Amino acid sequence: MATTPKPLTLPLNSGGKIPLLGFGTWQITGASARDAVRTALETGYRHIDTATIYRNEQDVGAAIRDSGLDRTEIFVTTKLPPSLAGRARATIEESLRLLGTDYVDLWLIHWPPDDDASPKTWKAMLAAREDGLAKAVGVSNYDPAQIDELVETTGEAPAVNQVPWSPRQYDEKRLTHSRERGVVLEGYSPFKGSNLKDPVLRDIAEAHEVTTAQVIVRWHIEHEIVVIPKSATPERIASNFDVWNFSLTPDDVARIDALGH
Ligand SMILES: NC(=O)c1ccc[n+]([C@@H]2O[C@H](COP(=O)([O-])OP(=O)(O)OC[C@H]3O[C@@H](n4cnc5c(N)ncnc54)[C@H](OP(=O)(O)O)[C@@H]3O)[C@@H](O)[C@H]2O)c1
Repeated sequence: MATTPKPLTLPLNSGGKIPLLGFGTWQITGASARDAVRTALETGYRHIDTATIYRNEQDVGAAIRDSGLDRTEIFVTTKLPPSLAGRARATIEESLRLLGTDYVDLWLIHWPPDDDASPKTWKAMLAAREDGLAKAVGVSNYDPAQIDELVETTGEAPAVNQVPWSPRQYDEKRLTHSRERGVVLEGYSPFKGSNLKDPVLRDIAEAHEVTTAQVIVRWHIEHEIVVIPKSATPERIASNFDVWNFSLTPDDVARIDALGH
């Protein structure tokens, strides 16, 4: 089967591009985080997602250095905990120290501080970008109205909104809202949000001779939605990335989308 001519990266509204398939690192720390990230980089992932609250930035940084890859080849995301919104600058400086790098490719507000869009925090993010500490800045767990509030108050849309996403959570309206504002939608917890034994996913997986997990990753790619599966298991780290030699048909995609209705 031929590989589909889908882009492997998406452009970001402030410049640069984000790899569509990245590696999640929540709930792994210490040696298991270093081993998992090293395996991911050996496998071919070039996008690593961490956060201050994951307490593994130092391990992610060590794995990046161990990989021997040039820093510029890897897209690194970290996130500002809302509880530290008042100390944004000091927090990113600490992230950079732990990661052992001069900049991150993407820095996100992890979730809305006090359930508020918080334009003040967003301005601090933009200032960090202007100063080169982050190449791009964005948000996570923001709803469409909160995105609009940031755009209305600062004129700058987040480069990315990272939100829970999986076939069951497919929401075309939200996708359209993001795209109309130039915000890249990045999905998280693709497997935790899914039933890997769902009969529709199984049927499609059998037809393509792949696993249901691979169908879920590939479904994100067909939609050009960034996906960041996490695994601490070397075989799964490899298989979750092995999605370039098959593609879903428009009918497959429609059947999977319908799981979200
Ligand atoms: N912004 C936010 O608020 C937020 C929230 C949650 C997550 N995230 C980010 O998104 C990333 C991904 O989400 P997640 O870690 O919550 O969940 P996930 O990637 O949906 O699922 C991870 C779980 O699925 C298992 N798994 C991985 N590959 C599998 C496969 N091929 N077959 C069966 N099971 C498989 C993993 O087990 P093993 O590890 O044992 O293989 C682990 O238990 C996170 O790591 C984090 O970077 C962001």
